[in-house]
Amino acid sequence: MASDAWKTIEGHPLKRLDALFADEPARLQHLSHQVAGIYFDWSKTHLDSGLIADFGKFAEQQGLASARDALFSGGIVNPTEERPADHVAERGSGSPDAVKLASSRRTRMRALVDAIEAGAFGEVTGILHIGIGGSVLGPKLLVEALGGASRLTVSFLSNIDPQAFLDAVAALDPATTVVVAVSKTFTTPETLANVDAAMGWLRDAGVADPYGRVVAVTASPEAAVDAGIDETRVLQFSEGVGGRYSLWSSVSVSAALALGWNLFEELLEGAAEMDRHFRYADTTENVPLLAAFADLLYTQKLGSQSRAVFPYDERLRLLVSYLQQLEMESNGKSVTVDGAPVGGPTAPVVWGGVGTDAQHAVFQLLHQGTALIPVEFVAVAQDDSHIPAHHRQLLLNAFAQGAALMRGSKSDDPHRSYPGNRPSATILLDRLDARTLGALLAFYEHRTFANAVLLGINPFDQFGVELGKAIARELAEGKGDGDLDPSTRALMERANL
Ligand code: F6P
Repeated sequence: MASDAWKTIEGHPLKRLDALFADEPARLQHLSHQVAGIYFDWSKTHLDSGLIADFGKFAEQQGLASARDALFSGGIVNPTEERPADHVAERGSGSPDAVKLASSRRTRMRALVDAIEAGAFGEVTGILHIGIGGSVLGPKLLVEALGGASRLTVSFLSNIDPQAFLDAVAALDPATTVVVAVSKTFTTPETLANVDAAMGWLRDAGVADPYGRVVAVTASPEAAVDAGIDETRVLQFSEGVGGRYSLWSSVSVSAALALGWNLFEELLEGAAEMDRHFRYADTTENVPLLAAFADLLYTQKLGSQSRAVFPYDERLRLLVSYLQQLEMESNGKSVTVDGAPVGGPTAPVVWGGVGTDAQHAVFQLLHQGTALIPVEFVAVAQDDSHIPAHHRQLLLNAFAQGAALMRGSKSDDPHRSYPGNRPSATILLDRLDARTLGALLAFYEHRTFANAVLLGINPFDQFGVELGKAIARELAEGKGDGDLDPSTRALMERANL
């Protein structure tokens, strides 16, 4: 990164976290903000007022303001595929035309949900949602986070592993199950094979017209119709909505059925509130921007290669997987929008687990290991469990870990010494509901976008996933053997393929 503003950031001396708190009395106020029912605390990072001002200038030089305007006005922010990124339109924040189109498609989605609830498919007790990557992680996260009281059994099937199929159908009654087949392209082999298997499962159970029980969700409606699904049950979403950004669209029809329409609308409203914040809040108070500044500080200036995320709430256990796709598929790139090498690290590896379990497994390395790993705690203030003592312990543990990482502890015995000065951020939701979850996920989207703009890369394509798919296709078709390396050929032979 060669710009003047970046050079100033490079030259900015970094103090220890405890010194930052001692020297900046208003530090907590400057680095913690309440937005859309969520408290974001970035005060235990090494950002300080000077750095935030420098990052603000850097963001200006990188064209953040115009990139953000383009995102919200339907501009081509995905130039390698010549597309806008329309996920914001799904929650009413995009260009008027895109918002209108998304809203008319949502009306169709709602009509289908209402019809199913009114008995169009007869009695329905379960949903088999089939999709992979962005076509499953979002809706699954919604159902796991908010579906405690759902009267439907919702199973998610993504992997081509036959065991995944058996597990997914185990709790479902084929006579009363609706199959929701989600694929943006409707060409993904795992999804098509699993839809096929589901049709066999229904047929074997005596369902006369298995395809009559399928709802398809796709950006390629012709491909869904070609696969045997009647167009009246095909819900279309826009090509401009990337898979990992698609839970705001009809991709979440299973979640809308399981959670009820109102919750789905509230999810969109929460996201729209975060959209407004990202679009209009000052740089110094803009939480996706502050988070992106800290991300760059650790990856570019301090060489951190990973970031760890720990939800301290079982309902959010899928958040890490969701963020892995969102952040690593978006920003795991090596070239800028113009095709030039980025000249520094891009997306860190995102990993993590659920607290407190993770404390007893991987936190040793976070406290005393040699790698610098910024940690993110995600917790929920309101107890919905009716076991308040447990919830209290859960929160105390999350907060204690952040304090311990920062404070450290000196000992004459090096084995028992903690260096401290280890950064963490804490995201504390007032409560976990559809609105706060929508705002939280939109926060992560905008942080990912801000990182991409600062790095000069396109977060909305994913060509890196294609080569492996192409080779798998060649191998399946018995082609490409001539090009195979000896190691892969030996593996094929050993597995009798
Ligand atoms: O292979 C990666 C990917 O294309 C993701 O980007 C996407 O979310 C997933 O596969 C599923 O794709 P589709 O929705 O087209 O089936």
